Amino acid sequence: MKFSLQKPTDKQFIEICKFIKEFELDNRDLRKEQFIVAVDNTNVLGFGRLRQHADCMELCSLGVVTPHRRKGIGKAIVNQLIKSTANSVFLVCIIPDFFRPFGFRIVEEYPASVKDKLNYCTQELVVPETYVAMLLLFKVKGCVLY
Ligand SMILES: CC(C)(COP(=O)(O)OP(=O)(O)OC[C@H]1O[C@@H](n2cnc3c(N)ncnc32)[C@H](O)[C@@H]1OP(=O)(O)O)[C@@H](O)C(=O)NCCC(=O)NCCS
Repeated sequence: MKFSLQKPTDKQFIEICKFIKEFELDNRDLRKEQFIVAVDNTNVLGFGRLRQHADCMELCSLGVVTPHRRKGIGKAIVNQLIKSTANSVFLVCIIPDFFRPFGFRIVEEYPASVKDKLNYCTQELVVPETYVAMLLLFKVKGCVLY
């Protein structure tokens, strides 16, 4: 599957926002600069973002358009996002098995913004599965960087 990863154009950002609505993903504080997009020529195939909170970095609003799932696009987007930051990254999801291979682990302790995200998901993005918080730790010489 041939695709490239890039910063979205204005037009692609509008498309991303439509997909976020369609897939019922986190649509809070959406800003173009937070995203990377996977594109095939000019078609949006997938997207994801890093959202900087006051107390941590969060990976969220990850999606791949339905006909192009299971082709490695989601994996490439996550790899690119985590490569783009030198900080530890939190996320909230219902698919921990997808995120484990990148090094994310389920955590029971997390900053206030992640607690807020868990509340938002359980109240606004209702699904039968259980939401979990996960953390990818970034360490330098034994020190954990948030
Ligand atoms: C979750 C999602 C982003 C995955 O993207 P994708 O492009 O289909 O995933 P990839 O093809 O890159 O898969 C990478 C690996 O994860 C596995 N995987 C894919 N979807 C998975 C899922 N839902 N649960 C567990 N593992 C999954 C694949 O089998 C693959 O494993 P492999 O590397 O051993 O072959 C995509 O299914 C999607 O957009 N879902 C709807 C929105 C959503 O749930 N977003 C996540 C919110 S936290």
